[in-house]
Amino acid sequence: MSTPDVAIIMGSDSDLRVMGEAAEFLESLGVAIEVSVVSAHRTPDRLFSYSKEAEDRGVKVIIAGAGGAAHLPGMVAAICPLPVIGVPIKSRNSIDGWDSMLSILQMPAGVPVATVAVDGAKNAGILAAQILSTAQPELRKKIKAYKADLNEQVLTKVERLEKEGWKS
Ligand code: RP5
Repeated sequence: MSTPDVAIIMGSDSDLRVMGEAAEFLESLGVAIEVSVVSAHRTPDRLFSYSKEAEDRGVKVIIAGAGGAAHLPGMVAAICPLPVIGVPIKSRNSIDGWDSMLSILQMPAGVPVATVAVDGAKNAGILAAQILSTAQPELRKKIKAYKADLNEQVLTKVERLEKEGWKS
């Protein structure tokens, strides 16, 4: 198995329905990933070993998603020197996503977690690719193509609205 550039971890396999979007995006760009479950509360020893070993294993960016009392991203960022992107998840034990979001967003000075929107795993994947692309020109090209495609999609919609009107 190739060394993953991006590790995508989450508090529970029930987070996969959201976190899968980060994995899909990164795979579509050919980025080597690994996907695993690391629970800050249920597997605290694994949280420490995973966070301590990630750098030596060659991981460059960590995406960590969790819901409810979402301590995983912040704790990984506390233990490990790699950039951590946090995904707040509106899980079944969450109060509408607010608890997850604030737990991940409001980190103390010195320990940043780059927090994306609630359930915003795709953006976490894009941001991870953008971080990697600072040292990978081929990946930068793919990101530019992705953004050009987004632009094109909107322009197509503009054209359709102009042609068919807003009622169609
Ligand atoms: C969090 O609790 C997990 O990240 C998940 O979002 C939530 C619910 O976990 P399960 O009870 O579904 O395993 O720690």
